[in-house]
Amino acid sequence: MEPSSKFIFKYKQSYFPQNLITPEYLDSLEDFEIRDSDVFLITFPKSGTIWTQNILSLILHEGHRNGTEHVDLLDRVPWLEYNIRKMDYVNRPSPRYFSSHLPYYLVPKGLKNGKGKIIYVARNPKDVLVSYFHFSKVSLHTEDVEDFEIILNNFLAGKVVGDFWLDHVEGWSAQRDHLNILFLMYEEMKKDLRGCVIKICNFLGKRLTEEEIDDVVDKASFSKMSEDRRANYTTAPSDILDFSKGRFLRKGTIGDWKNTMTVAQSERFDSVFKERMEKLPFKFCWDIKDEL
Ligand code: A3P
Repeated sequence: MEPSSKFIFKYKQSYFPQNLITPEYLDSLEDFEIRDSDVFLITFPKSGTIWTQNILSLILHEGHRNGTEHVDLLDRVPWLEYNIRKMDYVNRPSPRYFSSHLPYYLVPKGLKNGKGKIIYVARNPKDVLVSYFHFSKVSLHTEDVEDFEIILNNFLAGKVVGDFWLDHVEGWSAQRDHLNILFLMYEEMKKDLRGCVIKICNFLGKRLTEEEIDDVVDKASFSKMSEDRRANYTTAPSDILDFSKGRFLRKGTIGDWKNTMTVAQSERFDSVFKERMEKLPFKFCWDIKDEL
């Protein structure tokens, strides 16, 4: 293990937040037993994880949809690698739902062998970067840097939680023909949330009525989630997130990178990302006005 900073440490080729996870726990994940009925939501940080966690919870738990149960997302779709609530994942009844930011090469081998279902959500990396910059103020496990240039340099060097963005997305997209995996784009969710909810339902084999789908779409809106304590992480431990510094649901839009990155920074970003991004099987959307 290479100690990298007060905030992150390097494990194999990837960076993880100090004090939230150990190398021993990461080692143990390789043999974590996967069931056919498991569902994994996989994302690079700041790509719409909490949003999709909430959609999954609303689709799968009537009690969440109807407001009769007050269980939050950290319990509904808990983090595989950050067991924040110290849950007994091994004995959790099926079907189990997990979230994870792990790169493909670090996930349990059962998942690599095709067990379980995976939903992978990707977002345009400039918005990911800007979202990460703002989130670093709220997260007590991420270095809070005032200067965007520093975060940009770390992101371009892959020295952030979640890895080098291109490696993460390429690593997972290379599995598209081997695994039971649904790829979604954050931007697609922004532009056609109902269509994405239906795609997720079909992928999970879950039949909802038209009214139930409408309800999921309504409760997964940015404004409703911002007010819903079960769905906006305000119930997360205060030694992880400091909500006096900002919100988890910050802006929730496409193209906010233009408000932070200079033209020179954007060009530097493109010089590192563009060529490899063009080979990815996804259509990226850089502005709210762009067609998908
Ligand atoms: P911004 O910081 O750009 O606002 P993650 O959950 O992977 O950390 O991603 C967080 C990003 O998803 C934040 O982006 C957050 O606002 C956005 N987000 C969360 N819920 C959303 C929703 N219902 N609609 C649109 N964006 C949402």
